[in-house]
Amino acid sequence: MTTIYIEEIARFVGQDVTIRGWLRNRRASGKVQFLIVRDGTGDLQAVISKGVLGEEQFAQLAKLTQESSLILAGRVRSDARAHGGFELEVSRIELVQIAEPFPVQAKEHGVGFLMEHRHLWLRSSRQHAVLRIRHEIIRACRNFFDERGFILLDTPIFTPNACEGTTTLFQTDYFGERAYLTQSGQLYSEATAAAFGKVYCFGPTFRAEKSKTRRHLTEFWMVEPEVAFAELPEMMELAEAFLSYVVGRVLEARRTELATLERDVSKLERVKPPFPRITYEEAIALLQKKGNPIQPGDDFGGDEETMLSNEFDRPAIVHRYPSSIKAFYMQNDPERPELALCMDVLAPEGYGEIIGGGQRIHEIEKLTARIQEHKLPEEEFRWYLDLRRYGSVPHSGFGMGIERVVAWICGLDHVRETIPFPRTLYRLYP
Ligand code: 4AD
Ligand code: MG
Repeated sequence: MTTIYIEEIARFVGQDVTIRGWLRNRRASGKVQFLIVRDGTGDLQAVISKGVLGEEQFAQLAKLTQESSLILAGRVRSDARAHGGFELEVSRIELVQIAEPFPVQAKEHGVGFLMEHRHLWLRSSRQHAVLRIRHEIIRACRNFFDERGFILLDTPIFTPNACEGTTTLFQTDYFGERAYLTQSGQLYSEATAAAFGKVYCFGPTFRAEKSKTRRHLTEFWMVEPEVAFAELPEMMELAEAFLSYVVGRVLEARRTELATLERDVSKLERVKPPFPRITYEEAIALLQKKGNPIQPGDDFGGDEETMLSNEFDRPAIVHRYPSSIKAFYMQNDPERPELALCMDVLAPEGYGEIIGGGQRIHEIEKLTARIQEHKLPEEEFRWYLDLRRYGSVPHSGFGMGIERVVAWICGLDHVRETIPFPRTLYRLYP
């Protein structure tokens, strides 16, 4: 008898198959019992009749608790009334383990309790849907760059230097030397871009974020393309094409999961180029008009991002922030030297920044001066400055945080549900 997964059941109507999974729910009605079984790929209703199983085994089913593991054999039937449209007419059942009372119930639990039981909470249908969408997003990210000839080159996790400011570094001991967990692969991707033309890195990044917000994790995944010879406008187009592609792939492949989450997909269907582009100065004016107290020169916080992103029906690109509030490596606008040639992409519906990036300084004198101004250890940046010595060219890139994109696409109000095991200010367990 073929062992199959529930997601492929439509191909097996009328055939005898084996399903291996866990019990979600059981309901008895006289001589018949209905089990809802999940196997990781979907849920299936299994129908068991006393006549087939025999009095004794049938009675034993009463012991079956939620999350008990079992193996079922039977015939697949198409049944419009059943969840998913199919059911299994069981001929044989093998119990693998009777589960202890399962702590995570369908009833409402507090967030603290759920996070404490994250390893079990992952089995719930909502979490399952979110994480399948996460997988689809990651696959789409890779496919987008792979299809366009970008080379995936992983960057190190242990680094001797800071990329995104020194205030959020996680420090660790590296055989007696000081090392940090990477905040971004960007600096190394600039080296690989000079070697391979167009590249991307994709890995975990770390920031000792002391703030408790719905957008910040201390460990998150970032996909970062970097392109030699590209300038800021090209990056905006790349970001726009990239996001549209990713959303499009999820809409194509994960409709069921989006429905489980009751996501309004019409909002996602609008994610198509061109995205509105506004300057930082225009954004400030817009915020002030809305009554926000922000002043020119201030950075945006969560509230400002939310306000701005509510103004548009698709992602919006905010560009040319003051250099003074941006990272040391950012190229400045030749026409307005106090502004950086940078961009942030804000997701709509109040989600805020999902992409940050821009053009990098390629002149060695300028970059050296910037490293000194930011009081960064020059010695650790020797290799980075080398890139400006040997065939230096304008180049640009960006980084997109996976968890924020998952939160937006799934319509979640917090990033903690977007990664299997979130790491936040107060959470290192499980
Ligand atoms: O804007 P950021 O800091 O940009 C960089 O790190 C650049 N070096 C990237 C590059 O140009 N290659 O971070 C990029 C993105 C943000 O837009 C956000 O989506 C995500 O990373 N991000 C976080 N996500 C979750 N938790 C945090 N603490 C995050 N910090 C940044
Ligand atoms: Mg940023």
